[in-house]
Amino acid sequence: MTAPTARARPRSSAELIRAESTALAHNYHPLPVVVSHAEGVWVRDVEGRRYLDMLAGYSALNFGHRHPALVEAAHRQLDQLTLTSRAFHNDRLAGFAENLAALTGFAMTLPMNTGAEAVESGIKVARKWAYDVKGVAPDRATIVVAADNFHGRTTTVVGFSTDPVAREGFGPFAPGFRVVPYNDLPALREAVDETTAAVLLEPVQGEAGVIIPDEGYLAGVRAVTRDAGALFIADEIQSGLGRTGTTLAVEHERVVPDMVLLGKALGGGIVPVSAVVAGRDVLGVLGPGQHGSTFGGNPLAAAVGTAVTELLRTGEFQRRAAELGRVLDAGLTALTGRGVLAHRCRGLWAGVDIDPALGTGREISERLMSEGVLVKDTHGSTIRLAPPLTITRDELVWALDRLAAVLSA
Ligand SMILES: Cc1ncc(COP(=O)(O)O)c(C=O)c1O
Repeated sequence: MTAPTARARPRSSAELIRAESTALAHNYHPLPVVVSHAEGVWVRDVEGRRYLDMLAGYSALNFGHRHPALVEAAHRQLDQLTLTSRAFHNDRLAGFAENLAALTGFAMTLPMNTGAEAVESGIKVARKWAYDVKGVAPDRATIVVAADNFHGRTTTVVGFSTDPVAREGFGPFAPGFRVVPYNDLPALREAVDETTAAVLLEPVQGEAGVIIPDEGYLAGVRAVTRDAGALFIADEIQSGLGRTGTTLAVEHERVVPDMVLLGKALGGGIVPVSAVVAGRDVLGVLGPGQHGSTFGGNPLAAAVGTAVTELLRTGEFQRRAAELGRVLDAGLTALTGRGVLAHRCRGLWAGVDIDPALGTGREISERLMSEGVLVKDTHGSTIRLAPPLTITRDELVWALDRLAAVLSA
């Protein structure tokens, strides 16, 4: 082993990218920008170049970078208590769960850390519910999921992904999942039976390219699950907490699922915080020792999560997302036929299909980066726009102008 060396001078972006490539697993292909500072919607790289962050950590930064109220809550908590594990109680967790209940309308919270853990937790709770409450025969519970889903990277979760890159080489996978096409109620109805513990869906499929189902689909899923005596689990890890113009994306169809999975923005872009929220009839199936996490519900996470719920309490961020979402939608409509083939917009969240003749999504993202705008490609020539909800109208219009410039170059 060699001792870590003290460095005489800060390393350049190129040097840091080379060093990452040597020292880190290659499970990502980041844009070639090395961010060192950020505030609000703007980030700065190590050479001092500024970029508008139009990805916002896949919605983990809904309130922008280092929102003062969230940073203050974190600092205050760092000076007081950071971790107990749930072997003991801590004085921040009850308030966090009470605030989440007030915000979402669900009586109980199961706190976890990452999104994938919330999904895994939701699956466990649904299966336990199926055996204890619905009376499904032992080990026979099934969960129906949608094609083109994205619910995280654990082995169970990639086992029911339909993306070959996500799943191939990682089997064998857990049984008990049925995949149906998204936005297809007859197929869903067909797949649901007496073994069905739950239907697990994203109300808007983010990674798939911001795919918005037809009006009536989510209400239909609610009706199918209710009729079949199965739970409806909405994965709102990316779509929830203001992104689409409402606290939860299911509100667009006034649908109340049985369980909602939250993550990303719940940690305010500061700490990983996720949660399963549900009624007592559902989350009440868990007893001591049946599930847990050393870090889940830690006081630092709870303090930041509480501050997040307080930001969302007034509805101001949800309103901003709805209003500025209309600006985003109009801006993208204006680019249709000028490099944009189609787009889908819900709140401040858009999937934009660029004419493949102009480049891949990756190439467009790199050109936008040179123009000072950071976005992320999804598949093919589709890029995704999801700026912090704190973005101003002028900043959003500026980003749209940069996109127009890239498409017309
Ligand atoms: C809908 C959805 N579910 C789950 C996840 C997984 O979250 P995490 O990366 O925090 O594990 C993501 C991440 O992009 C997501 O978009």
